[in-house]
Amino acid sequence: MALLELDDLHKHFGGLPALDGVTFRVDDGEILAIVGPNGAGKSTLLKSISGLLQPTSGSITWEDTDITRLSTHRIRQMGVAMVLQTPRVFHSLTVHENVMVGAMFGNRTERKPEAEAFAEASTMLEFVGLIGKAGCAIDELNLHEQRYVDLARALAGRPRLLLLDEVMAGLNDTETHSSIDMIRTARDRFGVTVIWVEHVMKAVMSLAERIAVLDFGRLLADGEPEVVMRDAAVIEAYLGKEAHKNA
Ligand SMILES: Nc1ncnc2c1ncn2[C@@H]1O[C@H](COP(=O)(O)OP(=O)(O)O)[C@@H](O)[C@H]1O
Ligand SMILES: [Mg+2]
Repeated sequence: MALLELDDLHKHFGGLPALDGVTFRVDDGEILAIVGPNGAGKSTLLKSISGLLQPTSGSITWEDTDITRLSTHRIRQMGVAMVLQTPRVFHSLTVHENVMVGAMFGNRTERKPEAEAFAEASTMLEFVGLIGKAGCAIDELNLHEQRYVDLARALAGRPRLLLLDEVMAGLNDTETHSSIDMIRTARDRFGVTVIWVEHVMKAVMSLAERIAVLDFGRLLADGEPEVVMRDAAVIEAYLGKEAHKNA
């Protein structure tokens, strides 16, 4: 059984399709990268899965439950966590407190006891390499570190599915490498499945086990990275003239 299944998903904004009949499945433990040009519908896809947006039609199935119309709160409780390009952090809280919020209100119907949440937050800060800054105000951290806090917050809720939206944007090579390692280790250590929207193709090719390509809200290709990236339609749509020039 698939962990997540999208069937003929459509999302229109004032008549214009951002998602135009997307169908695919994700199995437990996979790392799936979603790539595609700007405006292809990648963020809309992730937001539809997490309940931040209501699809116009089609269905989203989580194991054997239809979650298409559930609230973002319910979907989070089922085990779906999302990290955006702009980290969602509480500026009035410390680094550790930010992650504790995730531990207390994450993947559970009941609030976690404070002592347990505290320990869980420490585990996740250790994991992202920021335990040394646990007591800092969040604003003392740079953007890259704040994204790691957001990732730690997401993981502290012990999600089964992690949705990442261009979390490597603006990182240098070293930071990109450490992010790649972290995502892979998160999957291995916490058993989380990952759907990851990414622009940095080098990162995609080194981490993804499967790539889905979106273009104008449609799935152009879906399969093994090497196979997908050789697909002529993908080269045309996604890499455009640059790819032809370098081919
Ligand atoms: N809230 C919104 N209201 C109106 N149009 C939107 C909204 N969000 C996205 N769109 C449009 O939907 C299309 C897909 O956007 P998006 O999912 O953000 O693409 P991507 O993440 O692939 O760059 C774009 O044409 C965008 O302008
Ligand atoms: Mg986007």
